[in-house]
Amino acid sequence: SGMFTYDPGFTSTASCESGITFIDGDAGLLMHRGYKIEDLAEHSDFMEVCYLLLYGELPDKDQKDKFLHDITYHTMVHEQLIQLFRGFRRDAHPMAVMVGVVGALSAFYHDSTDITDPHQRMVASYRLIAKMPTIAAMAYKYTVGQPFVYPRNDLSYAENFLHMTFSVPCEDFKISPTIARAMDRIFILHADHEQNASTSTVRLAGSSGANPFACIAAGIACLWGPAHGGANEAVLQMLDEIGTVDRIPEFLARAKDKNDPFRLMGFGHRVYKNYDPRAKVMQQTCHEVLDELGVKNEPMLKLAMELERIALEDPYFVDKKLFPNVDFYSGIILKALGFPVSMFTVLFALARTVGWVAQWNEMIGDPSQKIGRPRQLYTGAPRRAYVPLHKR
Ligand code: CMC
Repeated sequence: SGMFTYDPGFTSTASCESGITFIDGDAGLLMHRGYKIEDLAEHSDFMEVCYLLLYGELPDKDQKDKFLHDITYHTMVHEQLIQLFRGFRRDAHPMAVMVGVVGALSAFYHDSTDITDPHQRMVASYRLIAKMPTIAAMAYKYTVGQPFVYPRNDLSYAENFLHMTFSVPCEDFKISPTIARAMDRIFILHADHEQNASTSTVRLAGSSGANPFACIAAGIACLWGPAHGGANEAVLQMLDEIGTVDRIPEFLARAKDKNDPFRLMGFGHRVYKNYDPRAKVMQQTCHEVLDELGVKNEPMLKLAMELERIALEDPYFVDKKLFPNVDFYSGIILKALGFPVSMFTVLFALARTVGWVAQWNEMIGDPSQKIGRPRQLYTGAPRRAYVPLHKR
């Protein structure tokens, strides 16, 4: 001891320099490349945000057209990948499928795995951004037993994803602009969030020079946990369990009880000690979607808003600076859009892929980059003599 700084959970250690995302947790401020998330969510679209994260600037018209063209060029997956899907049980969790299938891309795209070549790194990044909606939609289709739907490159990124997920060959498929816009906005809100657990996982995996598809699969695995991307799923389960407004106090009491492992899902954040700016946009989008779908007075939304109101007046949550985070309202929207709960974290992974590849690219391109190798404080047995089996 004494040789290293002990910082479990990395609460005070910066692992890298990065020019991609800035968070001021006390102010509730989130910016990508200097642009506030609220402005991007309102005025931009997900493809622009992808370009911004990857290249550092918003695209001009020609750059945007070329980017859209290049991304859509990569939307299909190798036909043989279908066999891989068929190897999973129908009831496999789609996140389990995502970890496996995205990792397996390493075995399909040998040509884009020379990570020393910036062009090849971009090709791998484009492939991942382009194929994630296709793979995510396939994961869904497989669980419901419907035929896989091929991508349509005349549609926007969000529209195409909704099309591959919800259309069936026997029917025309129409997407309302409000719904497509909401999907796109959810993608924007999840695009990047600096050195969170899954992004740090991608960087750590990538620091050894590993294949980019394998690195993103590692990120997906990390995102799956309920303290991270799995929280949106957990929020809905929690709201379901609470059920009615009159039971809120009972659950708040449980959340405050240190002997009860129950936590208010979708509340609290390592970095935000203020309202998560993404949660505000999410709540607004939630109202828009429910209005568009004609779901007036959705009981779950009412319950969530009431829970938020009561919690934000409770000294426990006030003192600990626990506010709603990005996951608090997203589940209600996704449910209204028709996604099963098991797909929620998949959507998070889909949208976060651009952040992961942008961070991975930044790291590999950084000449001061070294393999990530944390140290430890050893707490095990001291040196001792080996005892032969017959004497133990
Ligand atoms: N409900 C009740 N108490 C809480 C909660 C909560 N949701 N979150 C934190 N606390 C308490 C915690 O018990 C601790 O109290 P004390 O100091 O008395 O021991 C204090 O607040 C600080 O919590 P912590 O666990 O030390 O803080 P952390 O930075 O390690 O954890 C967190 C952050 C997000 C894991 C945590 O707030 C949590 O578990 N929230 C619920 C799960 C969730 O919504 N996760 C989504 C995170 S946002 C985006 C994403 O990654 O998906």
